[in-house]
Amino acid sequence: MEHYVVIGNPVAHSRSPRIHAAFARQTGQSLEYATLLAPVDAFAATVQAFRAAGGRGANVTLPFKEEAFALATEAAPRAQRARAANTLRFDRDAVFADNTDGVGLVNDLMRNVGVAIAGRRILLVGAGGAARGVLPALVDARPARLVLANRTADRARALAREHGGVFEAMELGDLAGERFDIVVNATSASLAGAAPPLPESVFDHGVAYDMMYGRGETPFLAAARAAGATHCIDGLGMLVEQAAESFFLWRGVRPDTAPVLAMLRADARAQ
Ligand code: ATR
Repeated sequence: MEHYVVIGNPVAHSRSPRIHAAFARQTGQSLEYATLLAPVDAFAATVQAFRAAGGRGANVTLPFKEEAFALATEAAPRAQRARAANTLRFDRDAVFADNTDGVGLVNDLMRNVGVAIAGRRILLVGAGGAARGVLPALVDARPARLVLANRTADRARALAREHGGVFEAMELGDLAGERFDIVVNATSASLAGAAPPLPESVFDHGVAYDMMYGRGETPFLAAARAAGATHCIDGLGMLVEQAAESFFLWRGVRPDTAPVLAMLRADARAQ
């Protein structure tokens, strides 16, 4: 039996063990997948101990994605561009890092929601690890316009410079009157029960996508709906899609995501 974990802090409520157990059943793979709480100041030591015990791979979540990239000995180009990793694979002497968040978001939007990104105006809000992870895939999806906005505008500007200025950085306050087809929330504001302060214009008849998910509507999606967004989507589909890419990286088999997403939606309704 090969062992995998999702490492985070907090991590107890992660849906990843349920998702990977479903993928394993569906594909006939024999593996165990659990949560692993790392102290905020001991991520590397926690990874080391799991590896030493024979662990084969890990998903990495808040707040360790940048540290996960830093400790890898090899990294996929999309993780190098993000400088953040959500997936680690432990090979004999190497730690391989990848970032499947971006492809998870893009696949969810395109396949599950049915929304094209190419040629559209996209606003990404947030400049932390979550935004970092998805930026390469959003750039590659060729939107007509990609704007990054953050409460602390300097962090958005720094991230835009890091990417060679291939997208714009804007202050939240300067978004008044701007319109987008898709607005993605990559802030952690929902964790505190808040929504980033965005002008209503950005949502006008567009898609609002919260990378977070939880019981009931997130504050960001509630605000988007009130401002006239026509599609309000939480991050559950992205979670399943990024998990499928991680599963593929570890096991070489690509699971079918649709029944697993349907199962999680049914779980959420039953809660
Ligand atoms: P993560 O790894 O989840 O991205 P992070 O690096 O701590 O975590 O980044 C959190 C992001 O959420 C940041 O963009 C943060 O904005 P600041 O850079 O200005 O701190 C954003 N954020 C958190 N709470 C917010 C709130 N109430 N309103 C707006 N943005 C918020």
